[in-house]
Amino acid sequence: VNVRIVKDYPEISETAAQHVYDCIQQKEKITIGLATGDTPLGLYRELLRLHHEHPLNVSKLTTFNLDEYVGEAAESSCSYRYYMNQQLFLPLGIPLAQTHVPDGMAADIEAECEQYEAQMKAVGGIDLQVLGVGRNGHIGFNEPGTSFDSHTHKVELSSSTREANAKHFGSLERVPQHAITMGIASILHAKEILLLASGERKAQAMFQLLEGEVTNEWPVTVLRRHANVTVLMDEEAASLLS
Ligand code: F6R
Repeated sequence: VNVRIVKDYPEISETAAQHVYDCIQQKEKITIGLATGDTPLGLYRELLRLHHEHPLNVSKLTTFNLDEYVGEAAESSCSYRYYMNQQLFLPLGIPLAQTHVPDGMAADIEAECEQYEAQMKAVGGIDLQVLGVGRNGHIGFNEPGTSFDSHTHKVELSSSTREANAKHFGSLERVPQHAITMGIASILHAKEILLLASGERKAQAMFQLLEGEVTNEWPVTVLRRHANVTVLMDEEAASLLS
């Protein structure tokens, strides 16, 4: 695991955006895995800034998001599809057909999960996966205890994750109980992984990742088994490291 500790959140965002920008520019064709949540917002903002200065050729870009709530439609301002369209896809001008977010409204969720895996495989897998991490070490919506062999699947959200996301729904009761997420094996298939962690809330997960055991009680620790991972964190997230 390559570790890069920077001062604060703005520096994480700038560094990550520059890396993603360079990867898109350098490759003839690229598939990027994307995350939602608070952490990548700065990355998306900075990426758009770079794009406005020197436009990227978005025709060569394909994206796959990590996860989506079950029961939230694309038009719902709480869905991750909506978030991605607003924060990145529409301002970037990428045709939405090149973007993939699991369909939380699919009639057959299991079939949707299988199809999502097949679509990733069909484009040759993910070149660069951007990840955030939950304070309990989850990646995607793979909560503690999830098998390292998991592929895209439906999960029940833990109460801590639902509480963490309640602010977007107005109240805890409105947070969906289930989500679709890429599995841990799906995430590890990516050729390169860039994990972002900001703030004291993430310090314990960073400690487990870099100094603890590899265990599915802390899903993020599985990244130690991947050959090309960079962890980009700020000083607060690094505060428990020796
Ligand atoms: C989002 C995702 C989650 C988040 C994690 C951290 O697509 O997969 O694993 O990355 O919950 O969320 P924030 O960034 O809001 O702290």
